[in-house]
Amino acid sequence: MKPISNFKEHIQQYYCFINKDQILNLVNRPFLLICSSCFTILLSFYVLWAPNSLKFTFRHETYDQRNSLALPDNTETCDLFKGRWIRDVKGPLYTNFSCKTIPDKKNCLLHGRMDNDFLNWRWKPDQCELPIFEPRSFLSIVQGKTLAFIGDSVSRNQMESLLCLLSTEETPKEVHKDAKDRFKTLYFPCHNFTLMALWTRFLVNATQTVVNGSVTGGFDLHLDRVDDNWAQKLPSINYAIFSDAQWFLRQNYLFEGGNLVGCIYCQKPNVTDLGPGFAIQRAFRAAFKYINNDCKDCKGIVTLLRTISPSQFENGTWKTGGSCVRTSPLAPEDINNTGNADLEYRNIQVAEIESARKLGEKNGNAFDILDVTGAMLMRPDGHPGLHWRNKKKGYSDCVHWCLPGPIDTWNEFLLEVLRRKSRFPLRS
Ligand SMILES: *[C@@H]1O[C@H](CO)[C@@H](O)[C@H](O)[C@H]1NC(C)=O
Ligand SMILES: *[C@@H]1O[C@H](CO)[C@@H](O)[C@H](O)[C@H]1NC(C)=O
Ligand SMILES: *[C@@H]1O[C@H](CO)[C@@H](O)[C@H](O)[C@H]1NC(C)=O
Ligand SMILES: *[C@@H]1O[C@H](CO)[C@@H](O)[C@H](O)[C@H]1NC(C)=O
Ligand SMILES: *[C@@H]1O[C@H](CO)[C@@H](O)[C@H](O)[C@H]1NC(C)=O
Ligand SMILES: *[C@@H]1O[C@H](CO)[C@@H](O)[C@H](O)[C@H]1NC(C)=O
Ligand SMILES: *[C@@H]1O[C@H](CO)[C@@H](O)[C@H](O)[C@H]1NC(C)=O
Repeated sequence: MKPISNFKEHIQQYYCFINKDQILNLVNRPFLLICSSCFTILLSFYVLWAPNSLKFTFRHETYDQRNSLALPDNTETCDLFKGRWIRDVKGPLYTNFSCKTIPDKKNCLLHGRMDNDFLNWRWKPDQCELPIFEPRSFLSIVQGKTLAFIGDSVSRNQMESLLCLLSTEETPKEVHKDAKDRFKTLYFPCHNFTLMALWTRFLVNATQTVVNGSVTGGFDLHLDRVDDNWAQKLPSINYAIFSDAQWFLRQNYLFEGGNLVGCIYCQKPNVTDLGPGFAIQRAFRAAFKYINNDCKDCKGIVTLLRTISPSQFENGTWKTGGSCVRTSPLAPEDINNTGNADLEYRNIQVAEIESARKLGEKNGNAFDILDVTGAMLMRPDGHPGLHWRNKKKGYSDCVHWCLPGPIDTWNEFLLEVLRRKSRFPLRS
């Protein structure tokens, strides 16, 4: 036992244990402050004399792997992503009151969304339960680690959900933010946990297509060159969650080895339209090849692929007055799997992570999937629709997801996948 050297650490943990709001209240009320000081002094003595019992009380209310022995056999292996949405009277895990960091654009209830029954559903895998998000379990798994969301604004949406889910436990400090708020680093001091958003439309290098001196809204994608913006950060990351799909679904030109090899939706007589699926496949392939073969200091990284999040415009598109006005989920039987483009792209992504996994095993890298596509195809009711801070009035957002909302389930998937993975050695 080394009571003295542990002392500072324990007190620090004690203050981390109290959440921010409580501390503010104490500061506002001198009487309580005095009481809390007395308590702290008493606690200090307690720490000095019995450090292990304190450690046990405060630190180990997190997930205990031994508990899992009592759970059904399939808990470690069941397919989390095959299931249905079932009624849940408990409602969401946070509100726009308890989470202060909901971005305006995703705060649907603030922007006049009147129905809130879409918050009363839980994802139920067919063969097991998906555990409810437990902020302490999450933070204990990622303690001392760095996790990055690598992708577009939907990837960012998942990070925003995670921040809300963790907000009852710890609010991070902002360490870095670029001018456009596309790259962001947050630090959770109580858990020595770093969270990053790394923005990339395509995972691979891309520049705006210029025709006759002006940009077109499309991009030139270099399918064999990863985007440096995330690649250079990779050695500092323990958990990398890759996504991306929406930006591929527009007119883009595709290059390999610096040569034009085709396009997406370009309708040029002398350029082959290879379709979004081809480009999605090559981009993920390039990212995973970089991790497995090219990156010098990426051994032991845990790479997750979050599959395509469907955008769900009905009666039109973003530009032609399409909307999303549903107020409850669909059942699996309601989804038409035939000719479903989202499922086609999802299958391409699954195939890429599977081949990366086979290669990665040899290199000590782990690859896994957050296969959200099927679940989200059943949630056309989860988007802001008209209820976002829309500058151009009349446009519906059927791409991003309300907070709180069904996107919170992605982080329950994330926690459960990390929990399963954390039984295996991770890079330290
Ligand atoms: C939170 O949501 C309620 C509706 O449930 C809304 O009236 C209120 O304005 C929202 N508050 C904030 C701070 O977003
Ligand atoms: C935080 O974690 C990093 C990486 O594991 C480690 O090097 C560092 O010493 C830790 N810092 C503290 C204060 O625990
Ligand atoms: C580019 O400019 C030339 C000359 O002004 C014009 O003939 C051509 O159609 C333009 N191309 C496109 C794609 O706009
Ligand atoms: C793509 O490569 C070009 C040329 O090397 C570079 O200027 C640009 O910043 C890169 N962009 C991305 C998104 O990687
Ligand atoms: C395709 O045709 C256009 C105009 O006819 C030409 O500018 C362009 O270079 C051609 N592209 C290729 C790859 O041949
Ligand atoms: C689409 O149009 C049909 C018929 O006009 C209408 O019943 C339905 O509610 C609309 N759906 C959406 C999502 O707007
Ligand atoms: C499913 O979608 C395909 C392609 O869009 C269509 O041909 C087929 O009729 C649909 N099936 C049902 C049952 O709606």
